Amino acid sequence: MSYNTIHVEASRSYDILIGRNILPRIGEFIRPLVGECRIGLLTDSTVDTLYGEKIIEYLSDAGYNVCKFVVPAGEASKCAENLLDFLNFLAECKLTRSDAVVAFGGGVVGDMAGLSAALFLRGVKYIQIPTTLLSAVDSSVGGKTAIDIPAGKNLVGAFYQPSLVCCDTVLMDTLTPEIYRDGCAEVIKYGVILDKNLYDTLQNVPFDRESVVARCVEIKRDVVQQDEFDNGVRGLLNFGHTFGHAIEKLSNFGVSHGAAVAKGMLIAAKMAPLCGFCNVALELAALLEKYGFDLSCNYSADELYDAILSDKKRRGGEISVVLPRAIGDCILVTLPVEELYDKLKKVIG
Ligand SMILES: NC(=O)c1ccc[n+]([C@@H]2O[C@H](COP(=O)([O-])OP(=O)(O)OC[C@H]3O[C@@H](n4cnc5c(N)ncnc54)[C@H](O)[C@@H]3O)[C@@H](O)[C@H]2O)c1
Repeated sequence: MSYNTIHVEASRSYDILIGRNILPRIGEFIRPLVGECRIGLLTDSTVDTLYGEKIIEYLSDAGYNVCKFVVPAGEASKCAENLLDFLNFLAECKLTRSDAVVAFGGGVVGDMAGLSAALFLRGVKYIQIPTTLLSAVDSSVGGKTAIDIPAGKNLVGAFYQPSLVCCDTVLMDTLTPEIYRDGCAEVIKYGVILDKNLYDTLQNVPFDRESVVARCVEIKRDVVQQDEFDNGVRGLLNFGHTFGHAIEKLSNFGVSHGAAVAKGMLIAAKMAPLCGFCNVALELAALLEKYGFDLSCNYSADELYDAILSDKKRRGGEISVVLPRAIGDCILVTLPVEELYDKLKKVIG
C-alpha cells in the first residue's frame, strides 16, 4: 500500500505516515524507532471493540509484546484518575525506559497517552495511531498532550513530541457522521487560515480523504516547526476556538467541539469587518452549511463574553482572537477585553 510521509523537525523529529490500509505494517514502521520493546497500548472502548484484536495481532505478529489498557470512550476519560491508572498499569507491566507507549484512538486517547509517555520514567517514546479525522489532522501532530481537570479542559499537560504518527485513513470509515463532521470543522479551519487552494477543494463534498488529511498535516507541521511551544504563530490554529470553547462550555459540552468551532469560526468571520478586514462570513457560512453544520448561536454576547473571560488564552485585560483577512489568510489580533465585548454585541446582538 502506498502512503505519504510528512517529516516534522521539532525538539524530537518524526515522520507522519498517511495512507489507506497501512495499519497492518505498523510493526515494520515502528521497529527502526523503538527496536524490540514492550508496548503499553492505550485505547478506548469503542476503538477497542472495532479494532482491538487487529492492532494486537499486527503488533504481535511483528514480535511485540503488548499490554493493553482500555478507557471508556468519551472526553470524561481524559482525567487525572485514568492517567494515574494507566501510569500504574505501565509500571505493573514492567515497562522500562526503552519501551514505548502507543496511542490508538482519537484525541482523547492521544492526548492522555502522550502525557503518560512524557511522565512515565521521566519520558518514554510514544507512537500516535489516530483513528478520528480530528486526531489525524490536529491532535496527533505537534506534541501537545494533556488531560482535563475539574477547573477546565486541557489545563494539565506537556509539550512532548511522538516518535511516529501512523494514520490509516481506512479506520475513519467507521466514524459516525457527527464525529466525522467534527473533524471537517478543523479541516475547513486550515483552509481559512492558511490555504485558499485547500478551501476551494473542500467545495467538493465529500473530499478526497488521503490528500486532504495530508495537506492539513503539512499545514500544521509548518506552523509547529515555526512555533513548537505556542508563543506566536501557532495561535493561528485557534481560529474559531476562542468563541467555540465558550459555546462548548456554555452548552455544558452538549455542543460537540467541531460543531462549536464551526459556530466560532463564523463569529470570528463576522467580527473581521469590524476590525477593518474583509467580510468572508457569507462565503464561509455557505461552506460550513454544505457540511451540515448548524450555525445558530443560542447564547447572548454577554454569556459568550463571560465564558471567554475565563479562557486560558486571555492575558490580563487583553485577549487574542484569530480573524480572517481573506480566505487563506488569517491574523492574530489582540484586543482589550472591553473592545471584544463591543464587537461581540455588534455580531451577536
Ligand atoms: N493535542 C492537540 O493538539 C489537540 C488538538 C485538538 C483536539 N485535542 C483534543 O482531542 C480531543 C477530541 O478528539 P476526538 O474528536 O478524536 O475525540 P475522541 O477521542 O473522544 O473520539 C471521538 C469519538 O470517536 C470514537 N472513535 C474513535 N475512533 C473511531 C473509529 N475509527 N470508528 C468509530 N468511532 C471511533 C471514540 O470512541 C469517541 O467516542 C479533545 O480532548 C481535545 O481537547 C487535542
